[in-house]
Amino acid sequence: MTPTGIALVTGASRGLGRAIALELAACGFEVVATMRDPAAGAELPAAAAARGGRLRVEHLDVTLPETITIPEGLRVLVNNAGLDAAMLPVEAQAVAEWRPIFETNVFGLVEVTHRAIPALRRAGGGVVCNLTSSSLLAGVPFFALYRASKAAVAAFGESLRAEVAPFGIRVLEVLPGPIATDMLAASDHMPEAARVAGYAEMAAEFHASRRAIDALITEPAAAARRIASAILDDASPKRIACDPLGDAMLPAAAGG
Ligand SMILES: NC(=O)c1ccc[n+]([C@@H]2O[C@H](COP(=O)([O-])OP(=O)(O)OC[C@H]3O[C@@H](n4cnc5c(N)ncnc54)[C@H](OP(=O)(O)O)[C@@H]3O)[C@@H](O)[C@H]2O)c1
Repeated sequence: MTPTGIALVTGASRGLGRAIALELAACGFEVVATMRDPAAGAELPAAAAARGGRLRVEHLDVTLPETITIPEGLRVLVNNAGLDAAMLPVEAQAVAEWRPIFETNVFGLVEVTHRAIPALRRAGGGVVCNLTSSSLLAGVPFFALYRASKAAVAAFGESLRAEVAPFGIRVLEVLPGPIATDMLAASDHMPEAARVAGYAEMAAEFHASRRAIDALITEPAAAARRIASAILDDASPKRIACDPLGDAMLPAAAGG
């Protein structure tokens, strides 16, 4: 696709969302960088302008439908906003802890997408880009909640892809590996599972195994360049990696 029209990014206050918003602006899209607290993005329009791009910040909390405004002329929707969960075994994670994660990662994403499809159709087509996770490709312990929320998004995207292809709308799934953001930093600790009877040893092993990914941690700007390229590439695979760990895991999971 040509980089014209509006690209809306959710959760653009920091991390991957911020980097994707800036990259899409540099590519030529008119970017609407949405976030829960617009003050967090105060410097974003100037940062985009410094690279010759156009970007405006708007308030959007994916869990509050009244804050969701879809601009006319939308060509690209990047569903990036997401929450991580405590690393607990299923028996120690109450359903009440599942609900807020699903409210953001699944129902919020569905609400935004549900509202965006008519605008994308009126614009003659475009791209819906969903951020899931390379953790979907590995059945690691203590991630049932987070992975289940991302698996729901992956399945949602597959059916959506079939539905909207006739309207010229591509659905792209990005499976990030370890990207140097607040989310990754906040997860680098002994899993909460260590405090649950019977899981301490597994938690310690899991924590020790994390050091193996240190050398593979990727900067958000580098991941965002790959994501923007795939958004622009009409021949892009429908599921893509954006970092070296994803590059190694995705073909293996696909049997390639
Ligand atoms: N970093 C990784 O290694 C990694 C790996 C796999 C997948 N991912 C996925 O990539 C995406 C971006 O992750 P990240 O690492 O950049 O995370 P992050 O640094 O924690 O940033 C998360 C972003 O989501 C926003 N957000 C949370 N709840 C929201 C809501 N209800 N409405 C709107 N925005 C909301 C946050 O806004 P506030 O600033 O207001 O909190 C923030 O902008 C997520 O979907 C994540 O699951 C990341």
